[in-house]
Amino acid sequence: MKLVKLWEADMKKAYALQTAFEADENGFVNLAYGYSFDQFIDYVQTRKGYEHGIGLPEGFVPDTVFVLVNDEGEYVGLFNFRHTLNDFLRAGPGHVGFGIAPPFRRRGYASEGLRLLIERISPQIAEDEIYLSVHKDNPASLRAMQNNGVIHHEIEGAFCVRIPKIL
Ligand SMILES: CC(C)(COP(=O)(O)OP(=O)(O)OC[C@H]1O[C@@H](n2cnc3c(N)ncnc32)[C@H](O)[C@@H]1OP(=O)(O)O)[C@@H](O)C(=O)NCCC(=O)NCCS
Repeated sequence: MKLVKLWEADMKKAYALQTAFEADENGFVNLAYGYSFDQFIDYVQTRKGYEHGIGLPEGFVPDTVFVLVNDEGEYVGLFNFRHTLNDFLRAGPGHVGFGIAPPFRRRGYASEGLRLLIERISPQIAEDEIYLSVHKDNPASLRAMQNNGVIHHEIEGAFCVRIPKIL
């Protein structure tokens, strides 16, 4: 399995993956929901800019979108890595958001993809640990996080999880 930056991926396969997600599922937001293929291509270039802080909306930090590719070359999920934490991210969402496309769920991809991502991003994280959070009514995501880390504390409606860096 491997992680490929969205803008370095095969655009046809990436579009098929992106369109497999709802507009918002448990807080995993599909910012390209309902886009045509051409709109998606523009969106990918916008996301590429965000990685370098170009064109970021107010209050957003630079981030990188990765596609999780399985050993058969299928595009199975999306992982979003926020490079730094502002007050809002520190209090809740943290460094990482992810989603696995419905046909590929319950096969361990979220858990293993998260491990691969943590390995990849750890050297770039200023904090001692990686911050994430998950809605309390999302046991699958919580389990994937707990396969890599621990619940640190609770806030209203969510668990805040910390994952040790892999260095
Ligand atoms: C949550 C999500 C990422 C899980 O992906 P996945 O690849 O199916 O997860 P995994 O296969 O790694 O499973 C992780 C654990 O959750 C369990 N699990 C998976 N689906 C489950 C479900 N629907 N209900 C309960 N447990 C579930 C698995 O058995 C596994 O448990 P184990 O490690 O104790 O055996 C996926 O369902 C998804 O993309 N959902 C929509 C977006 C989302 O919720 N993103 C997370 C936002 S924080």
